[in-house]
Order: sequence, then structure tokens, then C-alpha cells
Amino acid sequence: MMAVIEIEGGVPLEGSIRVSGSKNGSLPLLAASLLCDGELVLHNVPWVVDVQVLCELLPRLGVRVRRGSNGTVRLEVEDEKPNAAPYELVDRMRASICVLGPLVARRGSARIAQPGGCSIGPRPIDIHLRALEAMGANVRRQRGEVTAKAARLKGAEIDLLGPNGPTVLGTCNTLSAAVLAEGRSVLLNAAREPEVAELASLLVSMGAKISGIGGPTLTVHGVPSLHGAKREIIPDRIEAGTYMIAAAITRGRVRLENVRWEHMGGTVDALRRIGVQVEPELFGCLVTSNRRARAVHLETAPYPGVPTDLQAPFMSLLSVAEGESSVTDTIFPSRFTHVDELNRFGANITVKKDKATIHGVRQLSGALVTGKDLRACAAMIVAGLAATPVTTIREPHHIDRGYECIEEKLSALGATIRRVED
Ligand code: EPU
Repeated sequence: MMAVIEIEGGVPLEGSIRVSGSKNGSLPLLAASLLCDGELVLHNVPWVVDVQVLCELLPRLGVRVRRGSNGTVRLEVEDEKPNAAPYELVDRMRASICVLGPLVARRGSARIAQPGGCSIGPRPIDIHLRALEAMGANVRRQRGEVTAKAARLKGAEIDLLGPNGPTVLGTCNTLSAAVLAEGRSVLLNAAREPEVAELASLLVSMGAKISGIGGPTLTVHGVPSLHGAKREIIPDRIEAGTYMIAAAITRGRVRLENVRWEHMGGTVDALRRIGVQVEPELFGCLVTSNRRARAVHLETAPYPGVPTDLQAPFMSLLSVAEGESSVTDTIFPSRFTHVDELNRFGANITVKKDKATIHGVRQLSGALVTGKDLRACAAMIVAGLAATPVTTIREPHHIDRGYECIEEKLSALGATIRRVED
């Protein structure tokens, strides 16, 4: 038997929900436990499947992981010998690569199964590896495995710009390596995503010397060791954006608690251009929509632009906008598995290269669809909330990788949504 998500759409979402801690803000911080002597305590960690996978991998690398209440996770290294991240875990989550930098920096070697491409497109790690080589590591790729070795890394000047912008996890890995390297490193074209700045701030509280946090150039003076620290994970700006879009497509009124307004810039700008009202509140925001969405041309961009992780949910919203919209993904140019599925709801979307053209329709009709990856699955749920009478989403397990209690949260806003065995 396979589970599906069923939604009876067409009901405006109303009420208030709390946004969870950030998935992508948790992963590199959890991996930073490999770097420190002493205990790392993280609060507000969302218990989503990607976090769970990393919390299965870390014990295989000698880290004791203890989960407390309210999203607290305590991590402490017990055994420094293991250095291998096995295929079965890396294959479940490509972001497992975030243990690479910490392992090489602290243990002098790492063996990691080479992550393959996925449904959002190719996922190269060449920049991660080049950075470690620039710091003196000996990197080899063999039989689907990457091995990197260095007795002690040496500071270097490293450019993190790829063909589609700076690499987020590449910046995290390089930073996590540079903090224990000998001498000074300069990271050019560093990713400026808040999740990277959070890692940098955590590392500083562990004793690292980093300047330029939040900007495109990070300067690091290596230190011999790092100590334990405590930190609270930032709210998930992608989860927040998804609920904002869900409020908009159902023409509802939703209050989100635990939002960092300053992290929402590109998303809020896009929503306002679409005609959605979004206003900041003390620790959250209020999203209201009482009219049909306006068509817009959206392009994803590195932070603070429209995040690629919200491209699919935005497309659901634009599929019912008045007029012709377009969506271009400059970060992952073939991240379009949701397009054929949205067309099954009666949307009218065509794709040429990295650009989707969307002719808005008045109403989506409930359909049988498949959520092909995490954010595509979020887009199916958003569309299903607007579609009548009933939508059935196959392969809903993808959503559990990144959204905590999504059925409960949407139900609290008045949606009729449930997971059932098919
Ligand atoms: N790239 C390279 N070489 C590299 C690394 C990346 O060419 O060595 C390219 C990629 O192919 C892509 C671009 O650079 O075109 C950006 O990729 P990036 O490395 O920034 O992606 P990532 O760090 O692997 C993180 C998020 C993704 C999010 C991207 C972009 C985590 C755990 N993952 O991935 O989140 O889409 O940044 O913002 O932080 C998701 O949550 O659904 C998700 C996929």
C-alpha cells in the first residue's frame, strides 16, 4: 500500500501557524559538530527527514546525537576515527556532502560517496573539491567515491562562484574547512544566504575567526581548535514562503509566527507584485489576499532574490493569475518536474530551456498528480488547496524531507487535507 495526500481544495486559509526552524539552516550547523571539542547544542531544529538522515550519518562518524524536547539536539564527538559517509545515506540526501569540509579539516581525511544528480538537475560538487585542493588537500575520485586527505589544511584564496552563482553548501564546506586551516583564507563570491551567515556565526561562537559575515567576501584566520557552543536555528524562510503562497492562492488571511522578516525580501517583493498583501508583525507577518493574482515575470536569483526553492510553489500561484506570466530558474535551469503535473490540474504552462510560460486560468480542477521532489511536492499541495473538488498527490513522502507537520499546520488553517493509504 502506498500513502497519498488528499486535499479538498477551494477553501480560503484562515488563522495562525508557527514556522519551524530552517532545514537548510540546520544541516551545515549539525555537521559543524564534527569540528568541535565539547558539546554543540542546537535549538529549534526541525525534525524533518533530511535532518533525520544527517542525524543517522553523524553517529556513523563517531558523533553522539541526543534529541531533547522542543527541537533541541545535542551533539558531541566520541570517536574521531571514522571518516566515511556511505552511499546509502548520501544517496538519500545529497546535502550529506556538508560533512566533507569538517571531516577533512578536523580528521585529516574524508571518504564520501559521490552524490549523483537528482530530479532538480545535475548536482556537481567540483567547487567544493577545488576549494579543498586549493587548501592543500589531495582529492581523488574513484568508483563513485571522493577521497580527500590533508595532514593540516592551509589557508588559501578561493573563489566560490559557479556557472549559476555562488554555491551555498560549497561555501559552507569551505568555511568549515578554513576555520581550522593554518593561516588566512579569503573566500570570494561566497554565498550570502542567511543559512551560510548562521553557520559563520555559530563557528565564531565556537572560537573561529571570521570577518565579512553576510557579505560576498569572508576572511578567515585559522585556529588550532574549536570549542562547544549553543545556537538557535533560524526560522525556515522557504517554509514561510510556501505558506504565504498557499494563503495567496486560496485568497485567505494567514498569520505566520516565527518569521525573520529581513530574510523574506525577494519573496515578499514577488508576492506584492502579484497583488498579495504581506505585512510584518513583531515576530511574524500577516498575509492577506482578496483578489485574483496578477501575472508577473519571475526570475530566481541568489539571496536576497526569489529563492529557487520557492519557484515551484510560485508557479502554482501564477497558474491561476490573470494574464501571462513567466518563471525562469537561473540557479537550477531544469527544475521543472512540477510543470506537467500542474498542467494536470488544468494549468496552461509550457517550458522552453530554463523558462516556463504560464497562461493563467481561472480555476484549477482537482487531479491525480505526483510530487516528484520536495519543492515540486509543495507546489502540488499549494495547487491542491485551490483546486476543486479533490486532489490526490502521489509520493507524498518527498514533502517530509523539508516540511514539519504540514498536514497539521494546513488543517489548523481550515484546509481539508489528510494522508491516507491508497
Ligand atoms: N554548482 C556547481 N558546482 C558545485 C556546486 C554547485 O556548478 O560544486 C551549481 C549547481 O549546479 C547550481 C548552483 O551551483 O546550479 C547552485 O547550487 P548550490 O551549490 O548553491 O546548491 P546546494 O548548496 O547544493 C542549497 C540548498 C538547496 C537550494 C540551493 C540553492 C541546502 C541543503 N540545499 O543546495 O535546497 O536549492 O542551495 O539555493 O542548503 C531544497 O531545500 O529543496 C534544496 C534543494
